[in-house]
Amino acid sequence: MKNYPIGIFDSGIGGLTVANAIKKVLPNENIIYFGDTEHLPYGEKSAAAIQNYSAKIIKFLITKKCKMIIVACNSASSVAWKNIKKISNKTPILNVIDPIIKKIETNYTKCNIGVIGTKATIESKVYEIKIKNISANINVSSLSTPLLAPMIEEGFINEKISNTVITNYLSEKKLKDISHLILACTHYPLIQNEIIKHYKSNVKVIDSSYIIAEYVFKTLEKTKLLNDQKKTEHYFYVSNYTKSFEKSAKFFFKETIKLEEIKLFR
Ligand code: DGL
Repeated sequence: MKNYPIGIFDSGIGGLTVANAIKKVLPNENIIYFGDTEHLPYGEKSAAAIQNYSAKIIKFLITKKCKMIIVACNSASSVAWKNIKKISNKTPILNVIDPIIKKIETNYTKCNIGVIGTKATIESKVYEIKIKNISANINVSSLSTPLLAPMIEEGFINEKISNTVITNYLSEKKLKDISHLILACTHYPLIQNEIIKHYKSNVKVIDSSYIIAEYVFKTLEKTKLLNDQKKTEHYFYVSNYTKSFEKSAKFFFKETIKLEEIKLFR
């Protein structure tokens, strides 16, 4: 079972930030990635729709014999987590929110945390609720930034357009006095440099991808499921093939990838 793959899914390329971090922290692991490009962006969909898509993807990843599944999408982790957990009763499954909450719990005592994410994530208030549960001394201000994920999917990164959109969002009153900013969407590490530049290092930007990869490492180590074979194979699936996804996936994953369209929903 050790050499079985880790399943990772997101609506599109966002989860690649998690896949990339896993590739660096756990270089022996095989990855199966699923991008639900047919239904992107998840952040604009209803909870019921996201639950339905996630359920189908999890079932698919289970048929691929994944030893662990990572919901590399904050929107699905926010509104579909309870359903997802029920489906994968044997395969261990991780969301992308709890590792961040653990990190905050152990590292921060008193601060003002800003959270940016999709509408689905922010409207669920999951970060506010979970952070309030661990500390009454941490203030949380959340802002939904719905243009960011589609903008990133379209490849607008480090451009005038992306700079304007990012500056507009980050200048919102709600985020005025923050000391930390959680990137509560797996797409956002791809614009992290622009965000850091905006804050001129005055705000600590919390990128979840490496926090999650470390968490995966510890979990596999604890359960003695770390892969000890060196030859890795990664597979990429999408629900709707586009050239632009393939191009971005190659670019962000930094290697040639095998990409296949799977008609999971038709
Ligand atoms: N990357 C996802 C997230 O973390 C989804 C973005 C979207 O499809 O709206 O929420």
